[in-house]
Amino acid sequence: MFIEKADAQIAELIKREKQRQMEGLELIPSENYASPAVMEAMGSILTNKYSEGYPHKRYYGGNEFVDGVEDLARDRAKKLFGVSHANVQPYSGSPANQAIYFALVEPGDTVMGMHLLYGGHLTHGWKVNFSARYYRAVQYPTGQDGYLNYDAIAELADQEKPRLIYCGATAYPREFDFKRFAKIAESVGAYFAADISHVTGLIVAGVHASPFGVADVVMTTTHKTLRGPRGAMILCNGEPSEPLKKPPEKSKKYLPTLIDRAVFPGLQGGPHDHQTAAIAVALKEAMQPEFKVYGAQIVKNAKALAHTLLDHDFTLVTGGTDNHLLLVDLNNKNLSGGEAERALEHVGMYCNKNTIPFDPRKPFDPSGIRIGTPALTSRGMKESDMEKVGMWMADTLAHPADASVRERVRKEVKAFCQDFVIY
Ligand SMILES: Cc1ncc(COP(=O)(O)O)c(C=O)c1O
Repeated sequence: MFIEKADAQIAELIKREKQRQMEGLELIPSENYASPAVMEAMGSILTNKYSEGYPHKRYYGGNEFVDGVEDLARDRAKKLFGVSHANVQPYSGSPANQAIYFALVEPGDTVMGMHLLYGGHLTHGWKVNFSARYYRAVQYPTGQDGYLNYDAIAELADQEKPRLIYCGATAYPREFDFKRFAKIAESVGAYFAADISHVTGLIVAGVHASPFGVADVVMTTTHKTLRGPRGAMILCNGEPSEPLKKPPEKSKKYLPTLIDRAVFPGLQGGPHDHQTAAIAVALKEAMQPEFKVYGAQIVKNAKALAHTLLDHDFTLVTGGTDNHLLLVDLNNKNLSGGEAERALEHVGMYCNKNTIPFDPRKPFDPSGIRIGTPALTSRGMKESDMEKVGMWMADTLAHPADASVRERVRKEVKAFCQDFVIY
């Protein structure tokens, strides 16, 4: 590797991080292992290029091949998701959501999204985020049972009359009813944006309902269950309004142009062409029949892990999962989410502390942990492996301060991981 000569310190840290990823169990539901082909595109010479604008309409010369890359990425996204328009330039999920707000609503307008402390994302209207600083954000919680209460959401929308409604989450273990959201949005004349970042791979596999043809705009990150590089896409239908000289009116008819103009020049400068190429490679991988098998296995594994944890007297928010993640309520285990996260880290099992609905503890020291199966499934693990993972979790969290249990589980996890080499 060139980097070993150029920068031994960074080379060493990358080496050690690779070892951590290989010898431990990655349970964070938003993480995954990108393929070597995706990483090769991400680390390619395309990082050297500037190409502000869109394919065949650039502000820089020398874009013959970059245009080919972005055309392929857009065409594959359109085909895979069955939409007429794809913007693959957002640098990541948060700027992509920002572009959607910028495209569809005006500062001060009312927007509605899932409450962060109940599973929503920062960009869906959390108080310190741009989405609540520049817009009037109204947040909907889950019901007491942890499920979204669609009647309550409809009532809130009717009271608040938002111009944009978001559906999507970072910590929700159940399937979204996109059709119900579309009806609620329609009833108050709001745009409906579905942020499917977490579940895109499941939608591709046909094991989660699809928002395509239902939501006005769909946003997905590319690095979670889709298993691509870090990045995001905005997908929609409609006619491009070009060659309109002035910005088009904010209407559903012109969504493609509104979105494109919001991304560039509204919020971003030059696209990251290496990232676009890596997204194109990931989309090609997601179009293969094996990807459907992968997406279905993620859910089978999450259900198997849920069963094992329930057998060990763990409490799961909503009692289980429909998707790739579980939200574990640790109140009956006399542990906080932070304590559990740290105990699991010691044995090479990585997860994150998370609030649970109606959390009795404070957000920076919440009652839960969030765990998921996308990364383990990418390593080839199946349901019987999830039983082992669940048992190690139970063992570790039953004796969080016992060094001998810790040492034993750490050894077992490390040995187990050797059977699932990924790179
Ligand atoms: C639902 C959802 N939307 C948006 C984002 C933001 O993506 P990024 O971290 O790439 O900005 C995330 C990331 O956690 C997410 O879970």
